[in-house]
Amino acid sequence: MQGDAYLKCINPQCGIEYPIEYTSVQCEKGHLLDVKYKNKPSPELKEVFYKRRNSEGSIFNESGVWRFRELLNFCQIDTENIEECSKYLVSLDGAEGRQSKPYHMSKAADFIGIPNENLWLQPEGYNPSGSFKDNGMATAVTHAKMTGAKKIVCASTGNTSASAGMFAANEGINCDVYIPAGQIAPGKLSQAYQFGAQIVEVDGNFDDALKQSLDDAQNHDGYTVNSVNPFRIEGQKTIPFRALEYLNWEAPDWLVYPGGALGNISSCGKALMELHEWGWIKKIPRIAVINSEGASTLSDLYNGKFENEKLRWNDGNPNIELISRYYDHLDKEGLRPKTKATAIQIGRPANILKGLRALEFTNGVATTVSDSEMLDGMSVVGLNGFDCEMASGATVVGIKKLINEGVIKNDDVVVGILTGRQKDAMIPVDYHRNSENEFAIPPKN
Ligand code: F0G
Repeated sequence: MQGDAYLKCINPQCGIEYPIEYTSVQCEKGHLLDVKYKNKPSPELKEVFYKRRNSEGSIFNESGVWRFRELLNFCQIDTENIEECSKYLVSLDGAEGRQSKPYHMSKAADFIGIPNENLWLQPEGYNPSGSFKDNGMATAVTHAKMTGAKKIVCASTGNTSASAGMFAANEGINCDVYIPAGQIAPGKLSQAYQFGAQIVEVDGNFDDALKQSLDDAQNHDGYTVNSVNPFRIEGQKTIPFRALEYLNWEAPDWLVYPGGALGNISSCGKALMELHEWGWIKKIPRIAVINSEGASTLSDLYNGKFENEKLRWNDGNPNIELISRYYDHLDKEGLRPKTKATAIQIGRPANILKGLRALEFTNGVATTVSDSEMLDGMSVVGLNGFDCEMASGATVVGIKKLINEGVIKNDDVVVGILTGRQKDAMIPVDYHRNSENEFAIPPKN
């Protein structure tokens, strides 16, 4: 299917197209890009994906990402030809996405106030590097290799760098990671060191680190693997694919994610747009994105909390000036994103326009939760025998808040994504030592 895949600017007024080998993360006018496919995959592939769960020795069937390879075939290979797959597709021996699927968690359902059978939570923390990032890193590094990149580069609040470092070590390529000094979880920092990444400490926050890493990638021949890279988005589409497949492709009412740089909701939106266009799903689930109260750019703008205007994708004509004025306002007032959930401590979500597009397509909502609520969400997940980090707790308490507000109805079917595993050992210890916390089980002596 050579010539099937290409890149296209997301701005409908611009819409410039590029060949698939193009490596910039923007069009020449500075807009984000989408990977596009000319051919329409047949719904009969559902059967093929299902059968691949018996991997028959192929790591590309074992992989929760490449199992769906026909729906992200930007390498334009013969997907049944294992030699071609081995030559092109980057994989952690089939482990990315392999363990992810939705589960019922009764204690979380009780806490939220939703019937247990209507709540599904999908832990992405059991990916090899401990977060959902491995889904998108498999595809981004595949494109990096396809275009001959020698070095991958990212900025990170910790999980992207862990994932990038792991893939780079596996592929024998270099990796530079820009991290906001002192603002990432110790377990995430140690992963980047352990995988041999070159750490660049930035005196500032994630937004500053991203700016510096994008500049350096451009000036020093690096390949950017942050979620502004459209190939990251392709791999992360498999998160909703796995959820939908598990539900026999019967779309739930809601898909709920924590929001940071908004790569995840962008990929979920793209996955749903494609599946709907291809006729694989009839109903479109609504996306709910949960910001931290201390890093609430999307929620503020989407809900009209700034200048009383509700920011919308508006069919490809979003009010960009409103976003600029919001950022100027943050700068002028010295407002820096601040939350204990450092994974989502982001003030300038790089994918905001794709995020808005996803919310428009799915009639989505955005809201915020506090740090102490996120800790409760994280902790109740733990009581079900699952492990997640504080930012992922936002999903649980976000669902609870939206149910209490009557936005999510009690009989709605909800899939919440638990984005990452606990990598800050002291957060649960401190939580449980304080008997005032809702789920605390303090130590005895
Ligand atoms: N949850 C976790 C555990 C994360 O690590 C991140 C982002 C998010 C949620 C937000 O996802 O950016 O797609 O909206 N972490 C990035 C990083 C920024 O550098 O690891 P998003």
